[in-house]
Amino acid sequence: MISNILTDLYKKKTHNSKKCYDKSVKIFPGGISHNIRFFKPYPFFVNKAKDKHLFDVDGNRYVDYWMGHWALILGHSPNVVIKKLDKQIFWGTLYGTANDISIKLAEVIQKSIPISELLRFCSTGSEATMYAIRLARGVTKKRIICKTIGGWHGFNTDLMQSVNYPFENDEGVGMTGREGDFVESIPFNDLDRSIKLLDSVKDDLACIIIEPLLGGAGCIPADVNYLKGLEEYCKRNDILFILDEIVTGFRLKFGSVSSQYGLDPDLITLGKIVGGGLPIGVVCGKKEIMNIANPVVNRNKQELCHIGGGTFSSNPLTMNAGYATLDYISKNRQTVYNKINKLGAITRTGLKKLFSDYGIKSHVTGVGSLFLTHFLSDKVNEITNANDVALSDGGKLARYHFSLMAKYGIFFLPHKMGAISNVHTLEDIRRLLDVTEKIINSGVLHNQMKNKSNMTMKAAI
Ligand SMILES: Cc1ncc(COP(=O)(O)O)c(C=O)c1O
Repeated sequence: MISNILTDLYKKKTHNSKKCYDKSVKIFPGGISHNIRFFKPYPFFVNKAKDKHLFDVDGNRYVDYWMGHWALILGHSPNVVIKKLDKQIFWGTLYGTANDISIKLAEVIQKSIPISELLRFCSTGSEATMYAIRLARGVTKKRIICKTIGGWHGFNTDLMQSVNYPFENDEGVGMTGREGDFVESIPFNDLDRSIKLLDSVKDDLACIIIEPLLGGAGCIPADVNYLKGLEEYCKRNDILFILDEIVTGFRLKFGSVSSQYGLDPDLITLGKIVGGGLPIGVVCGKKEIMNIANPVVNRNKQELCHIGGGTFSSNPLTMNAGYATLDYISKNRQTVYNKINKLGAITRTGLKKLFSDYGIKSHVTGVGSLFLTHFLSDKVNEITNANDVALSDGGKLARYHFSLMAKYGIFFLPHKMGAISNVHTLEDIRRLLDVTEKIINSGVLHNQMKNKSNMTMKAAI
């Protein structure tokens, strides 16, 4: 539970957000347009964002580590994107036709991700993963798809399985209840047990879809040998291997992690960063697979795999924003990745040391510019998969994130990993570590802390 003192402080600073929220709950289920955007007592409402900052309707400023669901690698509204959008808005926001700027963005992706011999743009990551598994089923003529326990691939119906603890239950109502018959869920980072489960459905298995870093479920990098083992299994058994790089694509390096990890996936899904802050999803892959979605050669309905794209696919605003972003990173890739990955390492090491110095059992996970603190509990000693995350002390994490937000104007979406962008600085990280120490000393996180500072609970909060 968040302390009353912190909640009162937050409420005092967010009167206008409260008014917005009161209206909002009458309009949207839960008052929000994405389930994870709600937190207690109510979320603050944003009306401006620039570089590393979010500004709410009460004029509060937050240093943002949520960064638009981790999409904004160059920060909010970077000038390179503004320039392109400024021009484009005058000349059309949605052509609804083939357009040349989509070629430019696609060529950058193709050049940096060799397996993207053909690709299709759509408007969300959820769509991209839905199309990817449809392609896999279409090519293999098999029905079952395999995902990891806790793996998040968006809200499409096929993949809404084993997402939330306790994982074996249905993910809410509104589905036929039979979707699970065609999904096999395997334990993340446990190759032996995964292979046993795969063996049990091998004959009807169309694909494995996996995130190289379990993102939404707790910022846990996949073991490279685990990924390689799964890929080898796929190749041996004519199953497609799909890397869902909607978070990791262009985040850890320019392009896909597959080359760095020595992987050769059949399909890759992208989103977030490649849209430059505008809505996007991309499914890309090898020609022989993507070609079954080619409506020009596959006139026979029996052979064509409809993978859509939708009204807003390859709209010129997204294409320009995505191109401007990738073009900027491409030209500055050394500087950008060196900087954000280094800041990520400093953050992880600094947080680890701080919590350990104060005797707070934690496990700071992540890679590159992504990080998340997990507070361990008597039920879990280390974090290797989504189950461990579910058994960790989520209440403590919520208190930590809420303290950062309410008292220090540093925003993490409660429970979710942080993403460092190119506009964050070493100063920001130092401040994050400093205020984390203050929060520790306030007693919010630790009941029997070693009192390194004289600050009382009241003074700190
Ligand atoms: C790995 C992964 N795949 C797919 C999605 C779905 O993307 P979108 O929210 O754009 O539908 C997400 C969203 O966070 C994601 O993290």
